[in-house]
Amino acid sequence: MEITYEKLIEMAYEAMQFAYTPYSKFNVGAALLASTGDVYTGCNIESASYGATNCAERTALFKAVSEGCRSFKAIAIVSESKLPTYPCGICRQMLMEFGDLDVILDRGGSLVVHRLSELLPHSFTQADLQI
Ligand code: THU
Repeated sequence: MEITYEKLIEMAYEAMQFAYTPYSKFNVGAALLASTGDVYTGCNIESASYGATNCAERTALFKAVSEGCRSFKAIAIVSESKLPTYPCGICRQMLMEFGDLDVILDRGGSLVVHRLSELLPHSFTQADLQI
């Protein structure tokens, strides 16, 4: 049975509890739905160096790819903010590396669905590396 986007949001909230955010205190959770139906979750993990921080989306993506999964349908992203939490530029680029997918956000209890290609138009991809 295909997982619903509502359930994916719920799984992202569960992952958010593990966020390590002593600096920003801004907790984020992500749940990445693979084409196989498997779900990889992630949270943000910060560092005293600040710049080494890993976003929740990339944590989920790196978990998936490091386990041999490279094809995805959707990613849910949540935080404690009342506003929907959109993926940062680095995460948009990194997710696009593995193709387009639905980006599911929570706007005060309602789902917002975007296509990644809508959030990162004219993206630079492997196909552009021809010389
Ligand atoms: N963050 C994410 O994990 N994902 C996003 O989409 C936006 C930002 C994290 C990075 C940092 O730990 C904190 O949120 C504040 O920027």
